[in-house]
This record gives sequence, structure tokens and C-alpha cells, in this order.
Amino acid sequence: MKTRVTELLGIEYPIIQGGMAWVAEHNLAAAVSKAGGFGLIGAANAPVDVVRMEIRKAKEITDKPFGVNIMLLSPYAEDIARIVVEEGVSAVTTGAGNPEKYMDMWKTAGIKVIPVVASVALARRMERYGADAVVAEGCESGGHIGEQTTMTLLPQVVDAVKIPVIAAGGVGDARGFAAIRMLGAEAAQIGTRFVVAKEAVVHEAYKKRIISAKDIDTEVTGRTTGHPVRSLRNKMTREYLKLEKEGASFEELEYMTLGSLRKAVVDGDMIDGTVMAGQIAGLIKKEQSCSEIIQEIINGADKLLGI
Ligand SMILES: Cc1cc2nc3c(=O)[nH]c(=O)nc-3n(C[C@H](O)[C@H](O)[C@H](O)COP(=O)(O)O)c2cc1C
Repeated sequence: MKTRVTELLGIEYPIIQGGMAWVAEHNLAAAVSKAGGFGLIGAANAPVDVVRMEIRKAKEITDKPFGVNIMLLSPYAEDIARIVVEEGVSAVTTGAGNPEKYMDMWKTAGIKVIPVVASVALARRMERYGADAVVAEGCESGGHIGEQTTMTLLPQVVDAVKIPVIAAGGVGDARGFAAIRMLGAEAAQIGTRFVVAKEAVVHEAYKKRIISAKDIDTEVTGRTTGHPVRSLRNKMTREYLKLEKEGASFEELEYMTLGSLRKAVVDGDMIDGTVMAGQIAGLIKKEQSCSEIIQEIINGADKLLGI
């Protein structure tokens, strides 16, 4: 299945693994790239040396192209923007900010730039800045979200820009993949399903929680702070929502979630940790290798699309 995104990234299949904080480390990113998709290392708030090591370790596992997701609000964003050039990463996806000031440096180095957007206006702006593609992310996604659904956002972004559009949010199987292709996307960025991949170094309890999740098990916290996050319902989300209702301050809410994703991913704390996952969690029923996940989605979608 060739699209402008497979051409742009030099990959076999138009499937990108989302750059997930704590989850998307070198083992997962390299496994996805090895399987013909495009793996991303999630830099999130990690210090520069950690990200550099992650890139080098991924290179030891695969010689296929992979990228780094840069959270532009990270205190280390500036340095990470520079080391992706030094380490010869082939693409970056960016979130939480404006990548404009790094554009020239990345372009000169031949790095493809793919911002994540949650609105048509932002997609247009990113195209103007010189982005090579955009990820249109709907609010079904796990993690930080916007307001529009994938179903509605995607075709509007596709109509608004000329660069290729990658769909994120709610793609969990061949049907979802075929659907986003019909809506005009040239690749899918998948997060939640890759959290339960065999190669994902994620606590067993986290994977089991996703596998046992029902359709209605996610909750959005942080709407009052302007930074909404989707995760699986637990004691943490219940207490957070209660505090929000009571009008808690931004600082109080921030303090509550400090280190909480790490707690879930590394320690397997499903009670007080933040178990980020998308609404598609209810569809995910087993742990599989990255290669099995990609093959199943692509082969199924080929049949559905009559390719
Ligand atoms: C555990 C988890 C952590 C995430 N962390 C990030 C992140 O640090 N940066 C980012 O751009 N997206 C992040 N995301 C979003 C994913 O990259 C991806 O766009 C999203 O998961 C796609 O939707 P899906 O979950 O329905 O597959 C995260 C998602 C999950 C599930």
C-alpha cells in the first residue's frame, strides 16, 4: 500500500506508531520500524541525554528509518531539536507548540517535519511554515486531546491542505484503517493498540487493563485547565474530576498528576497512576507483536478497500 506518506518516510506500510510518553521507547519504536511501519521515540519531558541514548539504542536494533516525537513545551525542547539533527533521525513529529523556529535547521538536515494538529486552522498554519505532512488527531485518542472527533476533523483537514494527512485517534484494526483511508488520510498514527504490543516495555498490569477495558471506560480529565487528557477510569481520574468540580487550582491539579503516567507505565499502579488510553481500548483484546499488528491491519484493510 503506497501513499505519499510511505514515500516521504521511506517505509513499507502507512502505519506510524504514536510517540507516547514513557511507552514509546527504543524497543517499541525499533520493532515498529523493523516491521515496516514508522516507529517514534516519545521524547516528552525526558532530558537530552536520555533521548540521545534512546535514539542510539533504536539504531542498534534496526537500520530502518524511525523518528522522535518532540513535546515543544518540554524544558529540553531546544536541545532535543538539535540532537535529532546530530543523531540523523529521519523525521520528527511535534506537539504542544509551534515548531517554526526549528524548521530551517531540520529542513537543511533533511529531517521531515510532521506536526500533530487538532484543528483545520493549525493544519493550515503548519503547512505555511513548511511542514511535510500533518497528523490530524481526533479526541478519541489516548493522552492529550483536542475537541474534534477523528471522523469530523480528518476530512476537513484533508480538504484544507495539500500536504499529506495522517489520521490519529480511534484506529485499532483494519476497519478503522480502511475508514481513515476513505476519509482521505494517507497513513494512520496508532497509539493505544501499540501499548499492548509484545515489544512495548510497559507494565503487564497496564496492558491487562487495556485488554479488559470496555467501550465506555475512558475518562477526560483536565478540561478546566485547558489541557484535557484521556485515560482509563480509576481512583485517580475520579478524585481529579471531583477536585475539578470543586474548583481546584491549576497547581493543585498539576501536583496530583505529577509523575502519574510513569507510575502506571513503569510501576503498574492502576489505582493512582494515569492510565492513558484511547476510546478504542475496548476493541483491543490481545497482546501481539508489532509485526502481527501491522500485518493484520494492512491485510484486512487491503481486502476491505479492494486493493
Ligand atoms: C500512553 C499514551 C501516551 C501518549 N503520549 C503522547 C506524547 O507524549 N506525545 C504525543 O504527541 N502524543 C502522545 N499520545 C498520543 C499518541 O501519539 C497517538 O496520537 C494516539 O494514541 C492515537 O490515538 P489512539 O490512542 O486512539 O490510537 C499518547 C497516547 C497514549 C495512549
